[in-house]
Amino acid sequence: MDIMDIVKKVENHQDFSYGEIENIIKNYTDGTLTDEQFFPLVKAIYENNLSDKCLYFLTKAMKNSGEVLDLSPLGRSVDKHSTGGVSDTTTIALVPMLACVGTKMLKLSGRSLGFTGGTCDKLECFSGYKTNISLDDAFKLVNENGGCMMTSTSSIAPADKKIYALRDRTNLVDNVSLIASSVMSKKLATGADVIVLDVKYGNGAFMPDKKSAKILGKKMEMLAKYDNKKAKVVYSKMSQPLGHNVGTLLECMEAINVLKKYNKKDALTKACVHLGAICHSLDKKINYFVAKRKIINTIKSGKALEKLKTMVKSQGGSVELFDKQYPKSQKDIVATKNTKITNFDTKEIGMVVNNLNHKYNENKYGVIINFKLHQKIKKGDIIFSIYAPENEVLNIEKSIKNAIKTK
Ligand code: URA
Repeated sequence: MDIMDIVKKVENHQDFSYGEIENIIKNYTDGTLTDEQFFPLVKAIYENNLSDKCLYFLTKAMKNSGEVLDLSPLGRSVDKHSTGGVSDTTTIALVPMLACVGTKMLKLSGRSLGFTGGTCDKLECFSGYKTNISLDDAFKLVNENGGCMMTSTSSIAPADKKIYALRDRTNLVDNVSLIASSVMSKKLATGADVIVLDVKYGNGAFMPDKKSAKILGKKMEMLAKYDNKKAKVVYSKMSQPLGHNVGTLLECMEAINVLKKYNKKDALTKACVHLGAICHSLDKKINYFVAKRKIINTIKSGKALEKLKTMVKSQGGSVELFDKQYPKSQKDIVATKNTKITNFDTKEIGMVVNNLNHKYNENKYGVIINFKLHQKIKKGDIIFSIYAPENEVLNIEKSIKNAIKTK
């Protein structure tokens, strides 16, 4: 069937068959169909969404475009996926914490998409860290270290890799059918026993509000069920960056800090501990609060920090970053009166930082925002610090000031 026939079906809200979409996905994955030829289908889905049946067919075809893993040699394992947000650095702290309590995770992560950061880009801040390892090596590492963080290899849902990149280039990202099929094709191909999905909503996420997040969450639960798997959805509000740091290197350093000293008031720490407790309690079928205590202890005892070092070293990375202080900022923006932040344009902050790093092919630029929404700021406090090339500082200052409303 010609791709334009499927496009017409999507536009007219008619169902296509599994065979029809499987063929199109196969042809796009192997290059028979070009980006230009495939683009109208992505656009039609973006504008019209898909019925549950067609969404499952699309997801299944994407899942089957590559290898479907059998993780049974690892025993029970858990997978976690965030739909993406700004300063969302949970994975780098979460995987070692879980490894310390015996919950295994083979975490396949992505690159930055739109205004969000990518875990793989952050992992590569450990100079030499190999994200692109073979699945055989990944299995060995999970057995040795209890977990492993790597890129979603080209053999896992390769169709998603191509579609993900095409959506990023063409700005067709924030759509329920496209996000659900992208996330679930990878999660179902990876084959963990428990799938925890962290669905973000708010002005720093793809889903603007809880209602739309729930629609996405329910679709992903439905896709897991169609595939005889169980997914647990967690909804997290993102009306401000999750941590304080925005920018690949700065976020990687903040994840290390989560493990250095337990700070129960820190928002990123709270998110990591919450996700850890959910993953561990579902894996071992224990009470959430028991699991939470165990997870917190992995930070307090220093074990999770040591585990992250071991994981980094095992994948060829340098542990130099663990002892590094933040580099000196280019400019600090100081409060001229007592104030507080009343609104963040979180997406804008993510976009400004991603564009800056893309422009200079860097990972070290970004901002550190010292305050959260409605927190008291005293005259003279540093509200945020800028890490940018000298000639960009004024632009970045202006953009971030525009994105942070104070009262
Ligand atoms: N994460 C993904 O893997 N895919 C999306 O489309 C959005 C977030």
